[in-house]
Amino acid sequence: TKKITIAIDGFSSTGKSTVAKQLAKELGYVYVDTGAMYRAVTLYALRKNYISENNLDRDALVKELSLIKLKFIFNPEVGFGEMYLNGENVEKEIRQMEVSEYVSKIAAIPEVREMLVAQQQQMGKEKGIVMDGRDIGTVVFPDAELKIFMTASAEERAQRRFKELSERGEEVTYKEVLRNVQERDHLDTTREDSPLVKASDAKEIDNSHLALTGQFEKILELYNAAI
Ligand code: C5P
Repeated sequence: TKKITIAIDGFSSTGKSTVAKQLAKELGYVYVDTGAMYRAVTLYALRKNYISENNLDRDALVKELSLIKLKFIFNPEVGFGEMYLNGENVEKEIRQMEVSEYVSKIAAIPEVREMLVAQQQQMGKEKGIVMDGRDIGTVVFPDAELKIFMTASAEERAQRRFKELSERGEEVTYKEVLRNVQERDHLDTTREDSPLVKASDAKEIDNSHLALTGQFEKILELYNAAI
């Protein structure tokens, strides 16, 4: 059968990645979590102390972008590619709250976006890919055959994220998580370069209430209509 490109965009913690992974598995497609790439660059900047409470040394980071090597390496135990930063598996570390706090600032830097978008386009050039992010249907693959835009209320998303982080043993409060979700929404939708916006030809799915199975069926229907 024909292979297509599937772009899944939306706000943070809408369950995009869960759906995208499931879809990739079902179709035998490659799954790419572009948020992990922005997170890995953020982790690099944090480790280099280019980010502090009120300051970001953007120039220092931009100068070193060519030294940041990102790679997804398939882990058969989890069934998906895990993020490697300069040869080190950082899959766990990039999900921590500290990275989430700063990632939207790093993702607003045009040079960072330019580098990551080029890598994403390279990864998808053979099609047969499900990519999730914020600008996949608008910037990375404007010609994607299937574009999905996922939404859910900020409270619902914060609740999910809070549960996830707590289960992983991170000491955060629901309030802190909600604040982070709202702040990222704001930064992601208002940044100048590639703001988060629904592509005009994307199908919107509100994931506030839909149980995962119902939602997945709906997406499969959309896929069948797209091929
Ligand atoms: O998807 P995730 O929540 O892990 O993404 C983390 C952050 O990376 C987002 O809040 C956004 O600032 C940035 N991002 C982006 N463009 C993408 C994917 C993620 O700007 N395609």
